[in-house]
Amino acid sequence: MDPYITEWLNLILRFAHVITGIAWIGASFYFVWLDNHLEKPPSWKSDKGIGGDLWAIHGGGFYEIAKYKHAPEQMPKLLHWFKWEAYSTWLTGFILLSLMFYLGAETYLIDPSVAELSPVVAISIGLASIIGGWLIYDLLCRTPLAKHSLVLGIILMLLICGLSYALSQTFSARGAFMHVGAVVGTIMAGNVFFTIMPSQRALVSSVEKGEPVDPSWGAKAKLRSTHNTYATLPLIFIMISNHYPMIFNHQYNWAVLMVIFVITAAIRQYFVARHKGNENKMVLLFAGLLTIGLMVAIAPKATVANKANIIEVAKVKSIINQRCTACHSKANTDPIFTIAQGGVVLDTLSDMNRWAPRIQARAIDAKDMPFINKTQMTNDERDYLASWIAQGALTK
Ligand code: HEC
Repeated sequence: MDPYITEWLNLILRFAHVITGIAWIGASFYFVWLDNHLEKPPSWKSDKGIGGDLWAIHGGGFYEIAKYKHAPEQMPKLLHWFKWEAYSTWLTGFILLSLMFYLGAETYLIDPSVAELSPVVAISIGLASIIGGWLIYDLLCRTPLAKHSLVLGIILMLLICGLSYALSQTFSARGAFMHVGAVVGTIMAGNVFFTIMPSQRALVSSVEKGEPVDPSWGAKAKLRSTHNTYATLPLIFIMISNHYPMIFNHQYNWAVLMVIFVITAAIRQYFVARHKGNENKMVLLFAGLLTIGLMVAIAPKATVANKANIIEVAKVKSIINQRCTACHSKANTDPIFTIAQGGVVLDTLSDMNRWAPRIQARAIDAKDMPFINKTQMTNDERDYLASWIAQGALTK
């Protein structure tokens, strides 16, 4: 496909994915918040079967919200469901993933220095991990483990850890992270589609028929929506992590990701508990300390930048022209990346000097540039650039 068209499709899908994602996660945060803030209603309300109520003010108006203990006596004429937010987030995400990582498998998904896969094999592994991830998760939630939510949670974490390790040994770093995100996102959307919605439909139909409500449906839906609550922050983290090669391109990126799962789940836990009025600041402190620990642990090793090395700027220019300008020039030569990527132009020595801090960040510290090392930059060349930058990125 023409790179310009791909770029537009990418933009439209990404935009739609972010908007629908905000709608989904926003509604989901709101309902978790609501549930946790309900108060005991006055007796005239509890006589009607209302289990909790709350008042709120927003956008210049008062809102009175009431949640029924079981169900209203009569079905209202219009009942609002929240499902398309989830479905459209998943659909736009899946199409975007296919466009970037499957149609562009050779560019984005396959890193020959990790594994020399053919596009068909790589795409099959990707799809199998997404479908398999859902099936295994769903199966586990149907076993008696569902009653021991902590044990189940730990098993799920270990499985995700295994998955990210396996994917990090299979795909490019970005591809591996994005697939962990796709598995988690599919589980979340699958929970809505296969469990939460059917349980709500069953609830509505019992109320319409005037039958008692089967509580097992509610319990199943509750477990799944608890999982979704804790998966939200790690998922969003993965989606933005593409901008931070220090994370996704780290040698132990799968382990880094697991630490981030723990940090973000702790933060979510803190807020859920806080809504219920029993916040524990220690949880926040734990998340903060773990973040600092992670920062220290993954700090790039001091480069072998040698301040005494004699650097020839002509050699710097030739390294960068050879390894970078295919994708970072006023006239790119790369067939896929046809305009200066990230707005970074590296044609002249003064361009190179201006971008030196970012060259340091991407080509020396995180080593995720050149992109999937397409132009086969050597470590000696990275060291040479490091020395050049350490000496002030001179242009003469
Ligand atoms: C095969 C294409 C390709 C090559 C070769 C390449 N890059 Fe990039 N570069 C990209 C793409 C794609 C992006 C945008 C995605 C991103 O930012 O991760 C990018 C973004 C960047 C950015 C901008 C983002 C930021 O961190 O500010 C910098 C800086 C960068 N590259 C530096 C380099 C350097 C230095 C080299 C050579 C050592 C290089 N690139 C070689 C494709 C390439």
